[in-house]
Amino acid sequence: MQAVSASAVASPTVSPTAWLDRSLSADARADRLVDALTQAEKLLLVTGYFGIQKEWNDYRFPEARPQSAGLVRGVPRVGFTPQWQSDAGSGVATQGEAPPELERTVLPSGLLSASTWDPALVERAGAMIGSEARATGYNVMLAGGVDLLRDPGNGRNFEYAGEDPLLAGMLVGAVIRGIQSNHIVTTVKHYAFNDQETGRRVVNVVVDELAARISDLLAFQIAIEQGDPGAVMCSYNLVNGAYACQNDWLLNRVLKGDWGFKGYVMSDWSAQHDTVLDANHGLDQETGVSKRGQYVWLDKLSGAIGARQVSASRLDDMVHRIARTLIAKGAIDDPVKPGPIDFAEHAKVTQADAEAGIVLLKNQGVLPLGNVKSVLLVGGHADVGVLTGGGSAQVYAPGGNAVRGLGPKNWPGPEVYARSSPLAALRAELPRATITWLDGTDLAAVAAAAKKSEVAIVFATQWTAESLDFSLTLPDDQDRLIETVARANRRSVVVLETGGPVLMPWLDHVAAALEAWYPGSQGGPAIARVLTGAVNPSGHLPCTFPRSIAELPRPKIAGADLPAEQRFDVHYEEGAAVGYRWYDREQREPLFAFGHGLSYTTFVESELSARLESSELAVSFSIRNTGTRAGRHVAEIYVSPVTGGWEAPKRLGAFVKVALAPGASTHETVTVDARLLAVYEPERRGFHIAPGLYRVTLAASAQDKGQSVTIALPERLLPAGAGAAR
Ligand code: BGC
Repeated sequence: MQAVSASAVASPTVSPTAWLDRSLSADARADRLVDALTQAEKLLLVTGYFGIQKEWNDYRFPEARPQSAGLVRGVPRVGFTPQWQSDAGSGVATQGEAPPELERTVLPSGLLSASTWDPALVERAGAMIGSEARATGYNVMLAGGVDLLRDPGNGRNFEYAGEDPLLAGMLVGAVIRGIQSNHIVTTVKHYAFNDQETGRRVVNVVVDELAARISDLLAFQIAIEQGDPGAVMCSYNLVNGAYACQNDWLLNRVLKGDWGFKGYVMSDWSAQHDTVLDANHGLDQETGVSKRGQYVWLDKLSGAIGARQVSASRLDDMVHRIARTLIAKGAIDDPVKPGPIDFAEHAKVTQADAEAGIVLLKNQGVLPLGNVKSVLLVGGHADVGVLTGGGSAQVYAPGGNAVRGLGPKNWPGPEVYARSSPLAALRAELPRATITWLDGTDLAAVAAAAKKSEVAIVFATQWTAESLDFSLTLPDDQDRLIETVARANRRSVVVLETGGPVLMPWLDHVAAALEAWYPGSQGGPAIARVLTGAVNPSGHLPCTFPRSIAELPRPKIAGADLPAEQRFDVHYEEGAAVGYRWYDREQREPLFAFGHGLSYTTFVESELSARLESSELAVSFSIRNTGTRAGRHVAEIYVSPVTGGWEAPKRLGAFVKVALAPGASTHETVTVDARLLAVYEPERRGFHIAPGLYRVTLAASAQDKGQSVTIALPERLLPAGAGAAR
């Protein structure tokens, strides 16, 4: 008979269900669970499998949910639930190669949501997709993408929230709060510096700590403070020489140490590399296992524990973190159950998000459309739908893909259009106008039709997706299509559906341009209503649009010319000078600045003042709607030391979005997050505010001079984990 090790059986004195006692704290319950589990059961909870149950998956489990990203098996003996994991930030995703498509409400892309500058709205949107996750039977969402937009060509920019740590952190934190209000867990991801897809499993990001703490890491820190996510997903890439999922500095020191993170760290799908290093350096759960022998903590971790390379208490800590999180978030006491979804109600939520985040970039009197009699729409499949982003975040809107056969046949393809027709929506908004659509392939026909129409609107699309990076030039010669329309009709408008910033060589020739990003499953009506003025646009850019790629810190994505598996470094020479900070530092003018966004009304800001309130910098100002339409305005507060000394002249310090009727005004006060007034000092392990004079600027964008006041700030040192109070 085989000997059974002592830890392989639970102590008979521990009740298997004592941990279910709801009167105890989550920590106490997690402790009891750890005591009740055998080592084999503990290993089950730290081992995640690919959820799709296809032939290529060696692990087929009856409890896996169809089309899902991941499954962590439960422990029925003690009543511990399986963890059913699904992507992601724009809704409940369908994993590639997993038809039939799971049809769910599609939120606008992360970049569009960030363009709302409205955490409350985005939180409601998060709550909505979290409820669909629940109703689909998922208790863990792989959402919360907050990597900064350092390279505009990164194919996953659409999943993230732009280039600024405060804006991105606040908005992603809000999505997380919303999702988890459904008694489920979500991640924040991809921790950290997963800022390009080219070579994502082999790229080594070289960044110094000073810059890291005030850029990408600050975005994560703020998102975690704001959203309290249950899990952090570590990324594929290396950071300063160590894989992110076995990076002691990132996981143990910064995340769990300085920030006091009590949740668990899961790897990105099969981003685990070494049992011992991963476990000892902070990984708590491996994921995405699909091949026998590929990588299974279930087997390897027990071996490492037996050989005393990993301590048994480290395994207990992993299990404690996972159990505590599921208990604290409500996923144990309020288990998920597949059920019906109110798609009609949810359509309103996603439409509100889209309408608040579409950015009016340029407008020379042509918008809103008003009493037009004839409108020509061209291109972009605007007759049937709006574009969505590809990869693991892919969500299929009700009705499935509106345009079949586009893009890569295999994952991260195909290109998917949500069934929401801008053409139909515009016809509904303007019932008296003649509105036609041409696909844009016959330029002569387009020019002739554009000449005859009062207004011509080109829909230009750029599909982007996980695992790929993209050119900033619109694909398929769409620049030429736009030029053709612009030459034929002076009242031409461009509606962009892009994953991130794109180049616009035609900008001076068109009368108006609208950035609709990937606007989600109600994108058609949202775009139409912004065009007609039924909705007054109030989106502002969460990222800079370059004039040319030559002006970027890295004109070419690093590693693009290397063989697929060859390791390479990317040096973040720009440090924390990301996006507008880079443009400021280099004294360059972008095409469109961070924070830019037009409205159909006008706002005047006045009475700017700054003071210290309980050591925090409080900024007050008034805003008046001086136009004739109701509108929503974003007040942007930038801060800078008068004598310089930062990575760049200024940083966004605070913002607020307000709704104002015509003629109405409001007086607002915002508090600047103290970390944004500081320089991180690794030796002192804290954020240091140098004493001196600081400029506080209220401006319409990062490029706008706006109005400024100065204030003297005393010296202050904040510990590395100091979070802004919510
Ligand atoms: C992506 C993650 C995703 C995971 C599961 C990976 O390829 O990088 O963002 O959550 O797959 O689908």
